[in-house]
Amino acid sequence: MAKILVTGGTGYIGSHTVVELQKKGYDVVIVDNLSNSNIEVLSGIEKITGIRPAFENIDCLDYVSLDKMFEKHSGIEAIIHFAASKAVGESVEKPLLYYRNNLGSLINLLELMPVHKVPNIVFSSSCTVYGQPDVLPVDENAPIKPALSPYGNTKQICEEIIRDTIYANPEMKAVVLRYFNPIGAHPSAEIGELPNGVPNNLLPFVTQTAIGIRSELKVFGDDYNTPDGSCIRDYINVVDLAKAHVLAVQRMLDAKNDKNIEIFNLGTGRGLSVLEIIRTFEAANHVKVPYRIVGRREGDIEQVWANPEHANKVLGWKATESVEDTLRSAWAWELKLKERRENNK
Ligand code: UD1
Repeated sequence: MAKILVTGGTGYIGSHTVVELQKKGYDVVIVDNLSNSNIEVLSGIEKITGIRPAFENIDCLDYVSLDKMFEKHSGIEAIIHFAASKAVGESVEKPLLYYRNNLGSLINLLELMPVHKVPNIVFSSSCTVYGQPDVLPVDENAPIKPALSPYGNTKQICEEIIRDTIYANPEMKAVVLRYFNPIGAHPSAEIGELPNGVPNNLLPFVTQTAIGIRSELKVFGDDYNTPDGSCIRDYINVVDLAKAHVLAVQRMLDAKNDKNIEIFNLGTGRGLSVLEIIRTFEAANHVKVPYRIVGRREGDIEQVWANPEHANKVLGWKATESVEDTLRSAWAWELKLKERRENNK
């Protein structure tokens, strides 16, 4: 079976994707510098699939080490490139760190692909490239809006770098996946999201509040032009999301792609408000999430959800997990983390 390089493979979406690749029989090599993840994730993956993936502790900014890695693991047929910095607030404070990390890592990989005859790359992009879309649900033809943060800008620039590189190198192929809001964890609760410090994203904040790590969740605004006044997002189960990567890789390996660069929205097609998420989480898990309405968060988009038809039809991918099951998986993972903390005492 084909050998796939997964950069950022010990991260949140990366680890779930490694599991789905292994389940389909792919041979996985992970490159990760563990800057925002933990080596223990490899054991979680192994518990689920029975296979410990090959792991290289390499920073994708390190061209020489990456070059050697491609020599050592010869025959890689596709790269799934997750490794990147992703905290929006931090990117505003440290823009150059974000431009260096996110652009430099991608450029190194794109330069090394022809050298090592790796023709295919899947890139992790984000619905953040659409800003506040004029039309909802948003499809792949919607205009790209000026980025609201250096992080968002790196996603836009990386997409452009890929487009230009593929244009100049017709032997190379890329699939760009624009994620909406990934949430939840593997149903086994062996892997999940491991936020660093105080979470920025909604779901880890919800689960940490429910378990008592945080005293209350702040809901950023209830005066938006939405039915209940809170912001609306398209929350997509992380395992569903992971499966789309396997299909994207398979599509390129089977030479079924129509163009050398294809773009897909990955979402459910359903928008949920912050207050709906809280209520559904409480009902699905029989726990309380103390919350308080506060002012809006700077740079927040009012509402966005996907039109996933292109991915449904062309990639043959559809989100199938219910939001209730997804929120149950997020809670099971938080409980697992608590159990681990107690065992380590
Ligand atoms: C954020 C980033 C986006 C990035 C994505 C990665 C911003 C403005 N956008 O998206 O660029 O691609 O993460 O996952 O940061 N919320 C609360 N209280 C909280 C946390 C969040 O009410 O403590 C609300 C937010 O206002 C938002 C929703 O929950 O309406 C989702 O927030 P979040 O998980 O941070 O995702 P995005 O803002 O959609």
